[in-house]
Amino acid sequence: MTDATWSAVDGYWGARVLAPDPDLDAALAANAAGGLPPIDVSPLQGKLLHLLARSIGAARILEIGTLGGYSTIWLARALPPEGQLITCELDPHHAEVARANLARAGLDGVVDVRVGPALRTLQSLTGPFDLTFVDADKSSTTEYVEAAVGLTRPGGVIIVDNVVRGGGVVDPASPDAAVAGIRRFADAIAGDRRVDATVIQTVGGKSYDGFLYAVVRP
Ligand code: SAH
Ligand code: DHB
Ligand code: MG
Repeated sequence: MTDATWSAVDGYWGARVLAPDPDLDAALAANAAGGLPPIDVSPLQGKLLHLLARSIGAARILEIGTLGGYSTIWLARALPPEGQLITCELDPHHAEVARANLARAGLDGVVDVRVGPALRTLQSLTGPFDLTFVDADKSSTTEYVEAAVGLTRPGGVIIVDNVVRGGGVVDPASPDAAVAGIRRFADAIAGDRRVDATVIQTVGGKSYDGFLYAVVRP
């Protein structure tokens, strides 16, 4: 089994459970035109985030790592009329592309893009959030989740992207700083009684990776 098979299956299921979506297509096109790396969640993964947010009736969502706002659009569309999403992005150019993508999708009144190092932005935020999606630089994932535990309500959900990295996570000698960051996070969450977590490995058009899904204990 290869990446080609995984992509074909993404296409097969995508054709059946995803609706045509000009705003999401336009966002990916604008990201490419703006030179942003194509490291957004996949369409099926974006819809999973959307459905998970809807499943818990999330009205306040926090995202760490905006890029061009592709995952942001999926998540923001899950919000009720009075809902709010705050997303943190270091790179001003990424944030500018994201704001345009969000405006095109009619979400500029709902989403607040905060530019700067996420650790600093997080210090300025007031919870509680119902759901937090952690998807920025992997070296600081431990600190992002630490902040997320404080900002997400009891019973709320924290989702962390890229916790598998093509299987690299099991290599203690990996030279990949992202792998080292995820391994440090894995050791931190192993003894963390404040959350109850699982990991789901994923394959597809975005290759082999995975999500950590955690519920904040009451
Ligand atoms: N969630 C997006 C992908 C995010 S890619 C999606 O699925 O569509 C990771 C993003 O995190 C990049 O845009 C990168 O610029 C940003 N980032 C990196 N370091 C950061 C930091 N210290 N603070 C905030 N954002 C950061
Ligand atoms: C990278 C970052 C991501 O958030 C992702 O989903 C895939 C790759 C990266 O930095 O390489
Ligand atoms: Mg990611």
